Amino acid sequence: MAGQRRPPTLTIAKTTTILPPVSTDENTLENIALNKIRYREARGRDIDRMLDLRNRIFPPITRKQFDSVEGLTACVGLLDGIAVAALPLAIREFQLGPSETCRAAFLHAVGTHSGCRGMGVGSALTQVAAKTLRGRVDALMVFRTGGERTAGYAFYKKAGFQDLMFATILRLRRRRVAQGNVTITSDEQAILARGNVLRDIFIKAHGSMGGYWARTPGFYERALRSSYFFSRPHDFLLLETRTRGRTTGYALLGRDRILPDTLKILEMATQPGGEDAVDTLLEAAWRHAGQSKVVFPTSAASPLRSAVLPWVKEESVRSPVLLGMMLNPTARAARLTVGPRKPSFKIWAPSGDLSVNKPTKTSPTLGLRDDALQRLFFRRLSLRHALANEAATLHGTKENEAATLDAAMPSQTWIYHALDYL
Ligand SMILES: CC(C)(COP(=O)(O)OP(=O)(O)OC[C@H]1O[C@@H](n2cnc3c(N)ncnc32)[C@H](O)[C@@H]1OP(=O)(O)O)[C@@H](O)C(=O)NCCC(=O)NCCS
Repeated sequence: MAGQRRPPTLTIAKTTTILPPVSTDENTLENIALNKIRYREARGRDIDRMLDLRNRIFPPITRKQFDSVEGLTACVGLLDGIAVAALPLAIREFQLGPSETCRAAFLHAVGTHSGCRGMGVGSALTQVAAKTLRGRVDALMVFRTGGERTAGYAFYKKAGFQDLMFATILRLRRRRVAQGNVTITSDEQAILARGNVLRDIFIKAHGSMGGYWARTPGFYERALRSSYFFSRPHDFLLLETRTRGRTTGYALLGRDRILPDTLKILEMATQPGGEDAVDTLLEAAWRHAGQSKVVFPTSAASPLRSAVLPWVKEESVRSPVLLGMMLNPTARAARLTVGPRKPSFKIWAPSGDLSVNKPTKTSPTLGLRDDALQRLFFRRLSLRHALANEAATLHGTKENEAATLDAAMPSQTWIYHALDYL
């Protein structure tokens, strides 16, 4: 049993931290029982305690910044009033497909005290976060930039998260192309004032897909003033291509002040059919790059991929990765519809049985593993594909029922933009 491998007591001795210890006297604590740790959602003073630990592991954010971010909360593990585990969460509407969102809490900057790693503390806090947020959000989600060979990735997989989307980072090269008509905005407030224009083009270009933070009004304010950008301040630059005064495409660029040698394309979109704008935008990006490299994190579904390919110098393998966990599959399944109809069925999975929309004895049963169930409900796997590849089996269907279930559970194409990373 995993518990038997773990020592019964926790010793917080002299610790190594990325940033020097501040304000707490934790280095003097010794031999404290693991079962004395209290896990809960952070409120009031707990948030300061949580930030105290978080800020020694990751680039810091202040309490004032934390409080200013809409939908930000956190869970914390406390030992005698000192945080030993920190788990901030950003709650946001996440686009599953063109006309469907779910409410997701994005974990980020998750960390445990270096004196108690590998003892189940991080897992315990993740379980508490899942339980605490179950009634408020549909899913927990997290982006991992380090890919699938890191301790962080192993940690989330162990906690029950499933792979949902793989992105790659395209490192671009310079090319000699003609300079086009580009408007450049570097003032953050002026960039935000263009938000409605960007949203309009984004939705036209990517609105048929899912995989991103819903582009609702005010999105760019929320995105540029997220806890990520407080922790890692960036300078932003907006490039817009124009024809007869109308914006035909844009690229929003960011330069991390901690790592200024990289200019990152955070989001790029063109009016449908206007992919020619990509050359003009990338030429302008290189003019502003100076000695920096230019990178474009994106995914296979990008409609701009073929226009960007001539600019690609190298491509990373599967990084970042988006992982997720539906917290209440039954509630999620109850929202599946085919036109006005809500199909009734049973689900058999290794973790247990689910009843969807009051099934009767004669309702069909869908049998599948928990990973397939999660991917199905996140719209990353279609029922048709799952059945064809024996990732699922369907039992007891009557005439038309299989077709109804099939129509209720399609998959959706997802696209990645670095602006959605947190
Ligand atoms: C990642 C982190 C939060 C894990 O917390 P933790 O309390 O050590 O995690 P747990 O003890 O609950 O471990 C749970 C599982 O995670 C995985 N895991 C944890 N640390 C690991 C490591 N160093 N290497 C590989 N897998 C690891 C294991 O699968 C483990 O299960 P097991 O003990 O049954 O093998 C912690 O190591 C940390 O704070 N790291 C520095 C910050 C960081 O990288 N955060 C990543 C999220 S942004």
